[in-house]
Amino acid sequence: MKSLNNIHSQVPEHVAIIMDGNGRWAKEKGKIRTFGHKAGVKAVRAAVSYALKSKVKALTLFAFSSENWNRPVDEVGVLMELFKLVLGSEVKKLHKNNVKLRVIGDTSRFDSKLIKKVHDAEELTKNNTGLTLNIAANYGGRWDIVNAAKTLADKVKSGELTTAEITEELFTEQTCAADLPVVDLLIRTGGEQRISNFLLWQLAYAELYFSDIYWPDFNEQTFQDAVNDFNHRQRRFGKTGEQVS
Ligand code: IPE
Ligand code: IPE
Ligand code: MG
Repeated sequence: MKSLNNIHSQVPEHVAIIMDGNGRWAKEKGKIRTFGHKAGVKAVRAAVSYALKSKVKALTLFAFSSENWNRPVDEVGVLMELFKLVLGSEVKKLHKNNVKLRVIGDTSRFDSKLIKKVHDAEELTKNNTGLTLNIAANYGGRWDIVNAAKTLADKVKSGELTTAEITEELFTEQTCAADLPVVDLLIRTGGEQRISNFLLWQLAYAELYFSDIYWPDFNEQTFQDAVNDFNHRQRRFGKTGEQVS
C-alpha cells in the first residue's frame, strides 16, 4: 500500500485515450466490426461528459491512426462516414458546452466534404474557453515528430532560427499539441498494452492506464476509475520518492 502522503487528488489536465476494442466487442455479439464502431460513439459522449464535469482541460481521443488505412476498404469507408455523421450531429452541443474542437492529424487525405466539416467545426468552436477536445484522425506520433522537424529545418534554412536555438520547448511548439498541457494520463481500452504510434513526444511522462473493457463499454465510471488510479500514482519526474512526497 502506498502511503497517503503520496496521494494527490488532482484532476489530470490533459487526458489522452486510445479507444480500442470496437471490433472485438461487435464480434463477441455476433455482429460485424463496424457495428462496434457505431456503438463506440456513445462512449465518446461519455468521455466528453466526464471531462466537462471534472474540469479536465484537454481530452485527446485517438479515432483513426495513420496505420488504420491498411484495414479493409469497407471498414475505412464506414469509419469516414461515421466521422462525418458524428461531426454533424455533435458540434452544436459541443459548442453550447464551450468546447473547443480540433482535429489533429494529416486531414489532407480525407475527402473534401469531411475536410469542410472539420474546418467548419473548428471555426465555430475556436474561441471557446472550456474543454479542448482533440480528435486524432489520420494521426501518427512519428508523423507529428517528423512534421515538427521539417518546420524547424525550414526555419533554419530561411535564417529565421539557428540550430543551436532549437530547444525541447521550441520543438513542442511545432507539434499538433503545441498549446496544450503535456499529457498526464493515457487510457487505453481493449486490453492491449501498447502506444500504437499515438502521441509519442507528448506521452514522455504520462501515467499509463490500461483497461480490458472494450471501447463501446467505456463509461463515466471507467473514466473515474482511471482518474482514481492516476491519483494513487507518485509522479517522480526523475526525483526520489522522498523529494516529491
Ligand atoms: C478501435 O477499435 C477503433 C479504431 C481503430 C478505429 P478496433 O477497430 O481496433 O477494435 P479491435 O481492436 O479490432 O477490437
Ligand atoms: C489504435 O488502435 C488506433 C485507434 C484506436 C484509433 P488499433 O487497433 O489500430 O491498434 P493496433 O494496431 O492493434 O496496435
Ligand atoms: Mg484495435
